Amino acid sequence: MATNETPAQIPTNNHELMEKVVAMCKRRGFIFQSSELYGGINGAWDYGPMGVLLKRNVKDAWWRAMVLDREDIVGLDSAILMHPMVWKSSGHVDGFSDPMIDCKTCKKRFRADDMDGAVCGQKPSKKPGSGPSGCGGELTEPRSFNLMFETHLGPVTDSSAKTFLRPETAQGIFANFANVLSTTRVKLPFGIAQIGKSFRNEINPRNFTFRSREFEQMEMEFFCVPGTDEEWFNRWVETRQKWYVDLGLNPSKLRLRAHDKLAHYSKATTDIEYLFPFGWGELEGIANRTDFDLRQHQRGIRTVGKWDGGELSGVSLADEDPEYNKGKLSYFDDEKKARYIPYVIEPAAGADRATLAFICNAYDEDKAPDDKGQEQTRIVLRLHPRLAPVKAAVLPLLRKDGHPERAEKIYKDLKRRHHVEYDESAAIGKRYRRQDEVGTPLCITVDHQTITDGTVTVRERDSMAQVRIAEEQLLAYVDEKIGR
Ligand code: GAP
Repeated sequence: MATNETPAQIPTNNHELMEKVVAMCKRRGFIFQSSELYGGINGAWDYGPMGVLLKRNVKDAWWRAMVLDREDIVGLDSAILMHPMVWKSSGHVDGFSDPMIDCKTCKKRFRADDMDGAVCGQKPSKKPGSGPSGCGGELTEPRSFNLMFETHLGPVTDSSAKTFLRPETAQGIFANFANVLSTTRVKLPFGIAQIGKSFRNEINPRNFTFRSREFEQMEMEFFCVPGTDEEWFNRWVETRQKWYVDLGLNPSKLRLRAHDKLAHYSKATTDIEYLFPFGWGELEGIANRTDFDLRQHQRGIRTVGKWDGGELSGVSLADEDPEYNKGKLSYFDDEKKARYIPYVIEPAAGADRATLAFICNAYDEDKAPDDKGQEQTRIVLRLHPRLAPVKAAVLPLLRKDGHPERAEKIYKDLKRRHHVEYDESAAIGKRYRRQDEVGTPLCITVDHQTITDGTVTVRERDSMAQVRIAEEQLLAYVDEKIGR
């Protein structure tokens, strides 16, 4: 599936749906605004009890697909704080910036590509949910704004102690390339995968968690023999697109977008985009980074200069020095009997964006009878069972007649294998709806018949169909429906 067409029947900006998703996320404990208690801060989000389970399941599914189910990729967890030379060599100090414009009247700051013309006004942007309205005031010329958060190592805050919070996890992988080579048995082609926080001082964070200042990335650098890079690039685009579809994203709301303007490190980049309620947005970029990063670090570590927090001094950066091919960050190919710097294909995904896409994709409303038999709107999160925060809820019909004791025993048995909840509060219909709204695939109810014949009802979230299952077959039934 690779289409650049917006399916005609799907509206590309559905504010009402987005508002419902955001309200549900707060109401059911998925996502809260950071520091809400103090009025909130822009661009940072907290995951509540349901959200943390969902996001962890997304990350686990990625880790399984990238590391555990393959033989050619190893994992890594590198530090957020790194030597500032890493960011000088990678090009982030000089090039990781957005052009921004200030309004002289309302003092608001905008990304230059969000504004049109010389006054502070709205631009009906093609970008998801963008288009800030303005006051008509005069604008400054665009200025470059580096997106890296600065910090200082240790108590001295002068420029020699300056470093940055990482804006991507990728550089931690490149910086550990030689360590992984010398401590494992990896041979080209192989990958190093990492999940972790990244920080970017985005000018306009927006669209809920979509563009945040603190977010989590799931990145993999796949090192391959130069010349095989284009083939690997195509394979990774296909593999990564399939991952989203296998976990339930609607294929008609996914598309591939090849970049015509490329980042400084890239020979080719294709984004996987999802049609969010606010429009198309990037979930993941797959880039052919060539040997750019390893070569840059090879140069960086051979630099005889000194980093003063802003500039390098006394630098020796001969661009095409053949010695670079023989340095610490090169690879000796046993078969070719040659040493060279590998090429890199990078599938770089956002854990928060994937989580948001899975939530938006799963959000649905239909009709279901309430406890008095009246048809009511039911909110249901049709999440893939592997992603669902809670796999099953065990519900005693009554808070008497031996139902709670029996239900608790079932709950404890299932809990050893799956994340399940026990709930005896409120009427049964209300409890079903609560579970539907957080995407719990199965509700297991203990009733009068359970006490007499040892069977329970299992209600399926999407169809609301109920079947009776013998207690001793329950675990196998849940295993089969949820997967292990
Ligand atoms: N190492 C390459 C890299 O970082 P990127 O396209 O800038 O590439 C990769 O980021 C992914 O990280 C994006 O596709 C997106 O899912 C996520 N991401 C980037 N900036 C983000 C932000 N401000 N908020 C949330 N997620 C973000």
